[in-house]
Amino acid sequence: MLISIMTKEQIKLLILCAVQTAQKKGLLPDAGSLDIPIDYPQNAQHGDYSSSVCFVLAKAAKKSPVQVAEIIKLYLEADYLQKVEVVNGYLNFFIKQEFLENNIVEICKEKEKFGRNCLGKGQTLVIDYSSPNIAKAFGIGHLRSTIIGQAIYNLYEFSGWKCVGINHLGDWGSQFGKLIYQIEKNKIPLSDLTVDKLEELYVAFHKDLETNKELENVGKEWFAKLERGDKNALKIWEKCRELSLKEFQRIYKILGVKIDNAIGESFYSKSAHEVIKEAKEKKIGRLSENAYIIEFKDKTVQVLQKSDSSSTYFARDLAALKYRLQNWPANLLVYEVGVDQEQYFKQVFSVAQMLGWAAKEKMVFVGHGLIRTKDGKFSTRKGQTIHLEDVLHEAIERAYELSKETEKEKVLDEKGKRELAEIVGIGALKYNDLSQYHAQDIIFDWDKILNLKGNSGPYIQYTYARAKSVLRRGMWKKYLENNYTLPLLSEREILSLALRFKEVLGRSAKEFSPNILCNYLYSLCQSYNRFYDTCSIASANDEEERRFRLNLSFAVCQIILTSLAILGIQAPEKM
Ligand code: ARG
Repeated sequence: MLISIMTKEQIKLLILCAVQTAQKKGLLPDAGSLDIPIDYPQNAQHGDYSSSVCFVLAKAAKKSPVQVAEIIKLYLEADYLQKVEVVNGYLNFFIKQEFLENNIVEICKEKEKFGRNCLGKGQTLVIDYSSPNIAKAFGIGHLRSTIIGQAIYNLYEFSGWKCVGINHLGDWGSQFGKLIYQIEKNKIPLSDLTVDKLEELYVAFHKDLETNKELENVGKEWFAKLERGDKNALKIWEKCRELSLKEFQRIYKILGVKIDNAIGESFYSKSAHEVIKEAKEKKIGRLSENAYIIEFKDKTVQVLQKSDSSSTYFARDLAALKYRLQNWPANLLVYEVGVDQEQYFKQVFSVAQMLGWAAKEKMVFVGHGLIRTKDGKFSTRKGQTIHLEDVLHEAIERAYELSKETEKEKVLDEKGKRELAEIVGIGALKYNDLSQYHAQDIIFDWDKILNLKGNSGPYIQYTYARAKSVLRRGMWKKYLENNYTLPLLSEREILSLALRFKEVLGRSAKEFSPNILCNYLYSLCQSYNRFYDTCSIASANDEEERRFRLNLSFAVCQIILTSLAILGIQAPEKM
């Protein structure tokens, strides 16, 4: 018999039934609704799942947690259970080895398909991520959105959702009025423009603005012209867009990220005005000094249309939201943007509700925190933002240096070493980002990012390469039948972790938190390395043990490979 998934929910249900039976028999009092906590024990010695529910029940039962546990234990029955132990009032559940083994068989047979499911079948998720602003270099700030957004996309796709990625480029807005004015005023030939030059012009505009407040209006006028479709303004704008997109493509290529659709704000320059019309018809806002605004319950305000009748970032976001709902049509809309925009997106979602477009549950904001260095904000000494491309190259260079440490067997030639450095360097950056809770600020520390002994990308990749070499040496091709019945603690630990994989994937997706998957992966790798260090395949006592260990190594390889693919990280065969 093959099991497909074993979850904390199952254990919870099992306990609930046992408690109810005990209550019927009068052994436990009815304590109302019951919260049943289930944990994964730190140590395989304490089983595969454990619960502290007896501490919750003890008071009402006027018994000690141990006594309560003994009572519940009497009624815990399931064909997948080997035993339940009561330790200091905790209930520890041990799954039958046969069950754990079946899971390994499943992994060996299903290979890269293992863990896939069709929970999302027939549903479409549209995710807005990366979304850099044109006429500016791709800053490190957009790195997080790109990496986390892609991982969320992959997680959902893995469970059967149709996913649509959208790069909501910041390619419209009053800043372009300012730029166009600068280019016109300085008579700069379009062929001389570069992204750096555009950044300079933008900074210069704001410098001039300090002494000449009138410039603000000049910029606005130019943007209004752009919105009206002025030929000259459009030509300059198009050039800026083209230059930026070229730069972005270079970055995406290094990152190995491909976003399905680049549909920037400019795409909604017209439909934003239709949304404004709809909002006026449905009377969800009001005029204020010639601008159309929406006031929220907490008295905050968003402008939909400016007094010069141009659209706003907010209006364009509403138009984009409507488009995504209608065009694909989306069942779930996700936005991966900096946490500082959380309040803003709550307002976008609430207006979408007021307009009757979508229910609250259909729109999700997944915010990411800042990237900081150990001594503060991530910026150069002069206070400029750091260019992402420089960071990517540095990661690759540092990974190249690191390979001198790992690559002891000297099997790679120079070209191979360079390729490996890219896989490891970029993987390290991504993993550093993904392994930390997205909404928190993260610390950027090269030593930690590339630490071969800690929770890092290179550590996971190294474990993968290690397990791969075990399989090569053992000439593993497919599942090897075996009768190995007494796994060592480290082997038991791997069996238990392998059983959790599907549940971890589910939770990671449900909570839009790739860090859940990363942390699981780290535990699995630690377990495998403990196993590798204590008992090698070569030292197996007999053929049964050898076969079991090879299968186990394959299962670990496969789980790492699948997980890394979801995280957008490559797995090197040798390292
Ligand atoms: N371009 C924006 C920024 O850099 C992010 C856009 C996020 N997506 C959106 N639909 N507003 O802050």
